[in-house]
Amino acid sequence: MTICRKTQLYAENKKEEIMVNVAVLGYGTVGSGVVEVLNTNKEIIKQKVGEELKVKYVLDLREFEGDPVQEILVHDYDVILKDKDVKIIAEAMGGEEPAYTFTKNALLAGKSVCTSNKELVAKHGAELIEIAKKNNANYFFEASVGGGIPIIRPLNQCLTGDEITEICGILNGTTNYILTKMSEKGYAFEDVLKDAQDKGYAERNPEADVEGYDACRKIAILTSLVSGAQVDFEDIHTEGITKITEADFKYAKALKASIKLLGISRKIDGKFYSMVAPFMIKENNPLYSVRGVFNGILVHGNMVEDVMFYGQGAGKLATASAVVADVVDAARNLGKNIPVEWKQTKSELGRFEDCKSKFFVRMKDKGLDSDQMDTVNEAFGDVLYVRAEEIKDELAFVTGEMTEEEFAEQLKKFDDVYSVIRVNF
Ligand code: NDP
Ligand code: HSE
Repeated sequence: MTICRKTQLYAENKKEEIMVNVAVLGYGTVGSGVVEVLNTNKEIIKQKVGEELKVKYVLDLREFEGDPVQEILVHDYDVILKDKDVKIIAEAMGGEEPAYTFTKNALLAGKSVCTSNKELVAKHGAELIEIAKKNNANYFFEASVGGGIPIIRPLNQCLTGDEITEICGILNGTTNYILTKMSEKGYAFEDVLKDAQDKGYAERNPEADVEGYDACRKIAILTSLVSGAQVDFEDIHTEGITKITEADFKYAKALKASIKLLGISRKIDGKFYSMVAPFMIKENNPLYSVRGVFNGILVHGNMVEDVMFYGQGAGKLATASAVVADVVDAARNLGKNIPVEWKQTKSELGRFEDCKSKFFVRMKDKGLDSDQMDTVNEAFGDVLYVRAEEIKDELAFVTGEMTEEEFAEQLKKFDDVYSVIRVNF
């Protein structure tokens, strides 16, 4: 006869133990948010789980004098690992180590781990999912992509009847915040980055945001999930937003477009072609109006067609909400693994050079006496010329659709090129 856990605890007269103990690793932006969400929504969460979720420990390197967390603060991870009453760990420390070792050891001990750490998920996700499975535990990572937006669970559970053929998303809150403020308010890049850091949106090393590495890890995670195999983020062509200038925004305005850092994966003839780069997109694209710290992710399935996910892509409570949703799921499924189809075998991506786009190009205007425009028309096919307010002595245009390889080859014919931005009209 099987006796449910609750009945067993009552039978053993351990009413006070009818709660699920949770430990939070890292008491920074996300970790402190996790504690806040669990406290604020304690009763609602209790109803959903059927038992109280109690934060038994918080691990951090620092002291937090005056914060009630001090009473449950520990500095030695072994305290958490060895405590059999801790069933679920929320990892919000970030970075590869010691997060990887802590997570692995927790899963080996049968504890479920819920994380916001995309660096770790992108690199070791497949292995940690496998370890969780072998130990009847779960490795959940909803907060690793899109902050508070549900996207991992929808891909893993709701869209499983579809073959996903495209994912296109604004996947980084910091860069979208920067691009929005630069474009709409004319603020300087450094000032907006500082603001994003103060608001807790940026990575510890913000290079990960502005150079596109964070968005790259996120599109690698999403592509791994839909392909069922490991997509290495190192294989994905990645460009950031550091070269975008005020002049580029003026041209975008003239084209009635906005500039967004996109992570894209397209399935063509059985292979995914992925990249991260700034794109100009027009009003008719649903991602056009995704502003500030918000993210938007368009998913195309062969049956469902277009689905869009939208919400706050970074920030304390939004991200913590996603971590806590994972903790709730883990608590509802103690001792039971929820399958995630993401194997360690490597998924080979299609060649970046074969990806097709239109390209917006700015170069020095050599004047009507030169043969510059003839050469441009010859090189780039169906060219659309564009003029922007107050900008002189520049020739700017959008090329016809061509592969990356063809474009790079043709661009060699020109010197004094000021900027190139892909176009997704
Ligand atoms: P923070 O830097 O604000 O918080 C990390 C916390 O973990 C810090 O308090 C840090 O302490 C602590 N910590 C680091 N190493 C250890 C260790 N070895 N032992 C104990 N504590 C440790 O980062 P965030 O909260 O912003 O981010 C956490 C993770 O969530 C990252 O992976 C990030 O990419 C991800 N994420 C962040 C989002 C956001 O909006 N901020 C959104 C989505 C995901 P100390 O400061 O003393 O080093
Ligand atoms: N730095 C990340 C961002 C945090 O700005 O999107 C959320 O993953």
